[in-house]
Amino acid sequence: MEVVPLKIMISGAPASGKGTQCEFIKSKYGLVHIAAGDLLRAEIASGSENGKRAKEYMEKGELVPDEIVVMMVKHRLIQMDVQENGWLLDGYPRSVSQATALEELHIRPDLFILLDVSEEILVERVVGRRLDPVTGKIYHLKYSPPENEEIAARLTQRFDDTEEKVKLRLVTYHKNLESVISIYNDVIVKVDGSLPKEEVFERIDAILSALRQKKLKTESTSSVAAGVAH
Ligand code: AP5
Repeated sequence: MEVVPLKIMISGAPASGKGTQCEFIKSKYGLVHIAAGDLLRAEIASGSENGKRAKEYMEKGELVPDEIVVMMVKHRLIQMDVQENGWLLDGYPRSVSQATALEELHIRPDLFILLDVSEEILVERVVGRRLDPVTGKIYHLKYSPPENEEIAARLTQRFDDTEEKVKLRLVTYHKNLESVISIYNDVIVKVDGSLPKEEVFERIDAILSALRQKKLKTESTSSVAAGVAH
């Protein structure tokens, strides 16, 4: 399959399924997955000062200050693998200032996917989520249970995955949503994220395939035009 470096943002409330859909998208489209939350958790695990500060905000369900997050994401976005394969930005930008920082670098997505899921479903998903520290795979005790006892025994839970903390994360999410989506209005597509994960991906896949075809066509038209001009 020809590589078309797509530029995709995926957004949605806590536990709406961003990470789960990114796994599907990454394996089919070869995009580089950049998840702001994962970068922050890696920083915490490294024991750095930035990590310690970030954790204080994450514990409260608040946004980590820009001076920590913006540099982290910008640094990742300019790497060669991202330029060559395209990017899939998960959970970023979450505020106008973060979006503006990208605009200043002329970084705009081809598509902004917004996963739409109701609040009762989100709480159930957060509380049942488990992570495999060995493979990084996301599980859910009810909806995506581990394949065997060995995996089940090593699963961990995120420190902010409690009912109490997800409610705080939701408040932060709703406070910032409108202002962020207003910046990407021309490229937004809303997808029903309450369906089973495979069905959610079917919808996203149809949208991304059409986008890839369109980009391929545009690129071949412009290379023909460049050839004629020579
Ligand atoms: P982050 O790690 O990004 O958390 P989040 O936005 O709250 O999103 P989640 O990772 O919780 O959920 P998800 O949508 O990826 O869902 P998943 O696929 O895992 O951010 C954490 C914190 O870091 C923030 O609160 C903030 O403090 C800070 N932060 C992050 N980005 C920042 C930024 N840009 N600026 C400042 N601070 C920032 O699925 C959830 C569960 O549901 C899983 O168990 C999964 O198996 C299950 N599931 C998924 N899809 C389905 C489905 N269709 N049907 C049934 N179950 C499903």
